[in-house]
Amino acid sequence: MLHDVTKTYPNGKTALRDVDLVIPEGDFVFLVGASGAGKSTLIKLLIRDEIATRGAVMLDGQDLARLNRREVPRIRRKIGIIFQDFKLLPTKTVRENVGFALEVTGTPRRQIGPAVERVLALVGLSAQAAQLPSQLSGGEQQRTAIARALVHDPRLIIADEPTGNLDPLISWEIIQLLSRINELGVTVLMATHNAEIVTALRRRVVALEDGRITRDELGAAYHRED
Ligand SMILES: Nc1ncnc2c1ncn2[C@@H]1O[C@H](COP(=O)(O)OP(=O)(O)O)[C@@H](O)[C@H]1O
Ligand SMILES: [Mg+2]
Repeated sequence: MLHDVTKTYPNGKTALRDVDLVIPEGDFVFLVGASGAGKSTLIKLLIRDEIATRGAVMLDGQDLARLNRREVPRIRRKIGIIFQDFKLLPTKTVRENVGFALEVTGTPRRQIGPAVERVLALVGLSAQAAQLPSQLSGGEQQRTAIARALVHDPRLIIADEPTGNLDPLISWEIIQLLSRINELGVTVLMATHNAEIVTALRRRVVALEDGRITRDELGAAYHRED
């Protein structure tokens, strides 16, 4: 997906250097590294929030730098995005937050209801559908965000520190949910510095240090073990 990518921001800061990364369909990948290592920059390139300075970022065989503005929403719909701070709309209920993601893409109303109920059931929030985000726990807010990310049936879920604001126990629930979604066939890329979770799950680990990939290992722990 990333071929020899370098990203230098307008202020001259180089956040990624010569990064090569291929994520096969169905994979579960942890992107790890200290704060400032470049994890969020890599994610922003994949969702075309930022454009690579050099190299190519490919999604589904398309070079994201070559898309015109009209084509961006179509590509974004193939990806479900989850953030540390949930980014829910505070005046909309759980059901409306999830449904809104389909409304803005022009989905017919009669399709929205069933699609929303299906993903709310999947994340275990059917009983909270009429509540506002402020009436939910942090874990429930993040599960709402996951439902919203899933409602388009994306093939790839990208999560940037999704457990960064959550207690350890709730973090485990969120990871278990993402693992279950992965088992349903959705590719998952998750940036985190939660060492305990990464080491326990033994999935593929891609480590960034100062903008470079320093390790890409299957069945790995958070820290290098050799
Ligand atoms: N918009 C920006 N403009 C300039 N520098 C940035 C910008 N975004 C991030 N950076 C810098 O790029 C480096 C990588 O940041 P980031 O990708 O957010 O890392 P991480 O998510 O691993 O903490 C950091 O030094 C950060 O300060
Ligand atoms: Mg970050």
